[in-house]
Amino acid sequence: MSVYLGIDIGTSGTKTLAMQEDGKILASATEIYPLYSPKPGWSEQAPEDWWTATKKTIQTVLAKGSIKPESVKGIGLSGQMHGSVFLDKKQEVIRPALLWNDQRTTEECQEIEERAGGRKRLIKMVANPALTGFTAPKILWLRNKEPKHFAKVTQVLLPKDYIRFRLSGVYATEVSDASGTLLMDVAKRQWNNKLLEKLELDAGLLPPVFESQEISSALSSDIAKELGLPAGVPIVGGAADNAAAALGSGIVKKGAVFASMGTSGVVFAHSDEMAFDEGGRVHTFCHAVKGKWCVLGCILSAGGAFQWYRDHFGQAEAADAKKQGTDVFSILTQQASDVPIGSEGLFFLPYLTGERTPHADPYARAAWIGLSLRHGKAHLVRAVMEGATYAMRDALEIVKGMNIPVKEIRLTGGGGKSPLWKQMQADIYGQSVSTLSAEEGPAFGVALLAATGTGAYKSIEEASKATTHVTETTPTDKAAKKEYDRYYPLYGDLYRSLKPNYEQIAKVVG
Ligand code: XUL
Repeated sequence: MSVYLGIDIGTSGTKTLAMQEDGKILASATEIYPLYSPKPGWSEQAPEDWWTATKKTIQTVLAKGSIKPESVKGIGLSGQMHGSVFLDKKQEVIRPALLWNDQRTTEECQEIEERAGGRKRLIKMVANPALTGFTAPKILWLRNKEPKHFAKVTQVLLPKDYIRFRLSGVYATEVSDASGTLLMDVAKRQWNNKLLEKLELDAGLLPPVFESQEISSALSSDIAKELGLPAGVPIVGGAADNAAAALGSGIVKKGAVFASMGTSGVVFAHSDEMAFDEGGRVHTFCHAVKGKWCVLGCILSAGGAFQWYRDHFGQAEAADAKKQGTDVFSILTQQASDVPIGSEGLFFLPYLTGERTPHADPYARAAWIGLSLRHGKAHLVRAVMEGATYAMRDALEIVKGMNIPVKEIRLTGGGGKSPLWKQMQADIYGQSVSTLSAEEGPAFGVALLAATGTGAYKSIEEASKATTHVTETTPTDKAAKKEYDRYYPLYGDLYRSLKPNYEQIAKVVG
């Protein structure tokens, strides 16, 4: 049987898997790498680390799965969105890549809006407002703040597209990831030359755009030799991590939505039409399904808030978990389940790294509000879980308000694994939620694209439907929903009250 490799250049590590034509996973491997934050709000990685991890995971997967090199018929690439790899004329990396969660580009976002003729005009042109994490403000930041580096730039690539270049020697991207640069005409699925002109950016800095399942390039002979693969294996366009995860969880038709509680939280809705929010509170990108779009809300620290709590306040629980041979998350969620809905009046705003959806506010910060003598650690952790879930509901409400139907919510990420968090999501979203038999994330989605692009399936919809299966559905508890509905509006009010103070704090901190 033919085998397809799916490679996902994530923020914490790179995951590669080998998938048989029928969707069966033969082997997978992950290699982690560091994230650097040389200044507060900065977030960078070394593209060379992604490349080392890619090669290592491919080799591990081939060995682990005893995969015959000649059975590998296609490669799909996925990765963290919005990152900027700057290459010089020797095709070498100029400086570390700025990542999706980097917050240094506030001034450049303003510059983009001004050059575009205002926020509203910009949203009309590229379906999204200028947000600090997106790629275009990063390019302008380099021009404004590191002009010597900018003078050397001949090509700007997204993380997964840099790996494509290392695998094939070819510069290329595809519609779903290109949408997150802020330089795409998302409706026409091609670069927006008008905006490029207004920003005085040379269109030649950007690679050609493919549809996600199209063959973009092929494995070069020297790299093939190094990896132990045949030269010329086709590499399809691939997809941004969220669009790829959507393919791997069956979000390929109207009404289908996933809610992923990973480090960031993502609410991703399939849309047959290009729809955007005039307020720019959610992102509109091309889907990896040909001719379709998606609307996406991104909560910067959802599961990440829980991880932060574990790292800073969960040492005792981590030690207990070790003794009991269990994991620290189940101990923490057990504590949280002993606290009533609403955490007895304690709220948590999860804005540890500023927020995108719905506030687009890099200055927002996290807070517990409502602490009293009554509250202990269990309340703190439950409030963190509730706060992250209210933030996800904010995104879901915007999607519904855009008349995009939400018929089925599939849960992915850590939040789909904990029984408490699953039930909490069903109750806070006010809709039943389901989980899948297997969850391999974006790497699986792009392996499906590789299979489709090389002819194993007629369409990506067919591939996705044939390989994703719902195993469990958690219905909403009506009484719990009613309780949460009393707390949710207060959660929104708290951010609005604090907003003016966040900017002041940022000024004081400098
Ligand atoms: C989406 C976004 C994140 C990254 C994380 O807009 O920024 O989901 O893609 O990998």
